[in-house]
Amino acid sequence: VPAFVAVAIAAYLLGAVPFGIVIARLFGLGDLRQIGSGNIGATNVLRTGNKLAAFLTLVMDAGKGAVAVLVARVALGEDAAQVAGFAAFLGHCYPVWLGFKGGKGVATFLGTLLALAWPVGVIACLIWLAVAKLSRISSLSALIAAALAPCTALFLAKTTVVLLICLAALVFLRHRPNIKRLLSGTEPRIGQ
Ligand code: G3P
Repeated sequence: VPAFVAVAIAAYLLGAVPFGIVIARLFGLGDLRQIGSGNIGATNVLRTGNKLAAFLTLVMDAGKGAVAVLVARVALGEDAAQVAGFAAFLGHCYPVWLGFKGGKGVATFLGTLLALAWPVGVIACLIWLAVAKLSRISSLSALIAAALAPCTALFLAKTTVVLLICLAALVFLRHRPNIKRLLSGTEPRIGQ
């Protein structure tokens, strides 16, 4: 058990690194929390107009989830990998460094998923891309991809279903302002 606790703490601290804020600062784009939606994720970095910075944020935020899962799996096995994925996700959404006010978890969710059960992760990415292509709305794409991930996992990776239901529920919880805007038709489109 102590090893699991150590894995959870390490994964949480890694997940809590707000790469969006760091990258936006390194690129001289200002404080992300004062821009667009105020969120610390890749979608909001894209609102600065810097595609490379947005792409790097996506890769790093997804990467921290994936690294947490892969390291925990090698060290302690599959259960620890799930604990690490969940902890990294919580770290991104509720980071100690930012007074527990973090991101919406989409990239970290996808990275975690790719490392835990890559076929489910690939399908989630494809669903995100398809909805984004049709709607041009990042949050809607994320909500649909997250909601469908546990359903896909039911067929392809049963052992991850419970975790994915928890992660999807948290993704919805973190998107409450987006859901309100989606319902009122005021959610901005990508590139707007
Ligand atoms: O990845 C977060 C995305 O789903 C929504 O971001 O900035 O439009 O609230 P944002």
